[in-house]
Amino acid sequence: MCGIVGALVNEGSVVSDLIEGLRLLEYRGYDSAGVALMDARGITIRRRAGRIERLEAALAENEASSARAGIGHTRWATHGVPSDTNAHPHTDTEGRIALVHNGIIENYAELKAELVASGVKFQSETDTEVLAHLIGRELSRGNDLLQAVLASLSRVRGYYAIAAITKTPEGPRLVCARQGPPLAVAVTKDGAYLASDVLALIKHTRDVTFLEDGDVADLHIGRADVWRTDGTSVVRVPKRVEWDPEEAAKGTFPHYMLKEIHEQPDVLAHTAFDKIKEEKGDIDFGVPGFSDSDLRGIERIAVVACGTALHAGYIARYMFEGLARLPVDIDYASEFRYRDPVIARNTLAIAISQSGETADTLAALRKAKELGARTAAICNVEGSTLVREADATILTRAGPEIGVASTKAFTAQVAAAYMLAVRLARARGVLTPEAGRELVLELRLLRPRMEQMLGERIVSEVREVAEKNQHQKGFLFLGRGINYPVALEGALKLKEISYVHAEGYPAGEMKHGPIALIEPSMSIVALNSTGLVHEKVRSNIEQVRARGGRVISIGSDRESWAISDEHVEVPESSEWLSPILNVIPLQLLAYHMASLKGCDIDKPRNLAKSVTVE
Ligand code: M6R
Repeated sequence: MCGIVGALVNEGSVVSDLIEGLRLLEYRGYDSAGVALMDARGITIRRRAGRIERLEAALAENEASSARAGIGHTRWATHGVPSDTNAHPHTDTEGRIALVHNGIIENYAELKAELVASGVKFQSETDTEVLAHLIGRELSRGNDLLQAVLASLSRVRGYYAIAAITKTPEGPRLVCARQGPPLAVAVTKDGAYLASDVLALIKHTRDVTFLEDGDVADLHIGRADVWRTDGTSVVRVPKRVEWDPEEAAKGTFPHYMLKEIHEQPDVLAHTAFDKIKEEKGDIDFGVPGFSDSDLRGIERIAVVACGTALHAGYIARYMFEGLARLPVDIDYASEFRYRDPVIARNTLAIAISQSGETADTLAALRKAKELGARTAAICNVEGSTLVREADATILTRAGPEIGVASTKAFTAQVAAAYMLAVRLARARGVLTPEAGRELVLELRLLRPRMEQMLGERIVSEVREVAEKNQHQKGFLFLGRGINYPVALEGALKLKEISYVHAEGYPAGEMKHGPIALIEPSMSIVALNSTGLVHEKVRSNIEQVRARGGRVISIGSDRESWAISDEHVEVPESSEWLSPILNVIPLQLLAYHMASLKGCDIDKPRNLAKSVTVE
């Protein structure tokens, strides 16, 4: 995802510092990079699609080398293709400001229409440029940069971390703001700095101020004044950062996996929020292949995927059947490719993959195509083979997933499948706009609930569960209905990174075999959220207890907690989306078990992040 840096110094130049900062943010993944540099002449912007080396080459020798202020950006495209023009920084019509942005401005279309009507000409396809023009317009009304940013942000709906510079008679001004994506600032007696990640700050000082949502920071040499978006001032105390650079590449987290688990609320917002059309009770993917006429003729769905992506596919099956009333076949890609599958007329084959490079998934997609299916991909990597080969793609916006154990890609895949189920249902006329509206609103309600799941209370409850169960011989994960695939995913996570034997089972199937395994050294993780089958799962928990098994219940069903040895509370949500909440404690459980056992969490033995061979 995008990275932001900014610097203001007393003497010398900020150029090399900005470039170095951008390099430190490269791990986030990007497709273009740019800087805005301010010297006595004004603002110079250089931006290039591709790697940072291309940007460096574009910065001609000595150009703006005396710049005392600047901002920089690595872009991970959301609105508009990766190109020189869409790369950040962006500016207003008069070139008074330069702006970099990480996030999504959800109401950019309506703001753009308003600006265009007032005569503004846009240079890029980005949502960011809207904000650049709004800030420029406020400056031309006589506001200073801080006031202009505050006034402009009051018009904006969405998630952002931004930084803006402008020139004033007194010198450069540098202001930044956060609502969602991370942003930190640091000051020394000779400078002031900002970045998406402390990694780019700790070379200046280890005393770093992490901005909170709704903060706007006005940076001066040796000082950062922090304001709330309502214009009130606030004091933020810097925190001492003790990491070495290797650790710092993971942000404030000890492992990429933990960082990625914590990114999930933002990933949901990036994947879904700009596609939700509340007024229509529908989803607009903004890409070809998902219009009414594209989808109306679909009579059957075939899902293919591997590993965690397959578990997302199992959840998708409940959604496609239950919401869009379509029959669904689903298979391991590695099985599908060597079967002789029957593809019915008007089948849409959907391949789900984080990397878009998994050999079995690609082969299965090709086979489905050969057999006459139309194809679609749910994928996290733009430009991957899967995306190039599928007839249509829904991109999950999870950002680069570095931990081998897939976490944020999974919840993004489930959200994407839910959106596709709603779109299919609306296109097929089996869902009214009113019912559609309720469903899409549930997605928005999910973000704060995910944040709650990642708050200190629940995280430490899960850590405690891991501590108490670390010496257990085995784990059986049970779930029913739409949470049965979550049981599969919980077991896979635990196996992958802590090397503990674990199985996922439909809870109702337990009595047909796995019940023989139950004894005190076997922990049963029962997923039970309020919904269609919670009473059934409760009976399954009783069956385990009667045989001396240790039960950890996870979900919103309070009565299950009362009959379990331990429990983790999950907030109530729509049953369709409960897998996204219920999987979070399972990811954390696997993480803490692996940590207690001293395993190499981000690089578990024998596993590769992307399985490009059979
Ligand atoms: O890149 P893909 O989503 O196609 O990868 C599929 C599986 O290899 C992947 O989900 C694997 O199971 C993960 N290590 C699970 O954590």
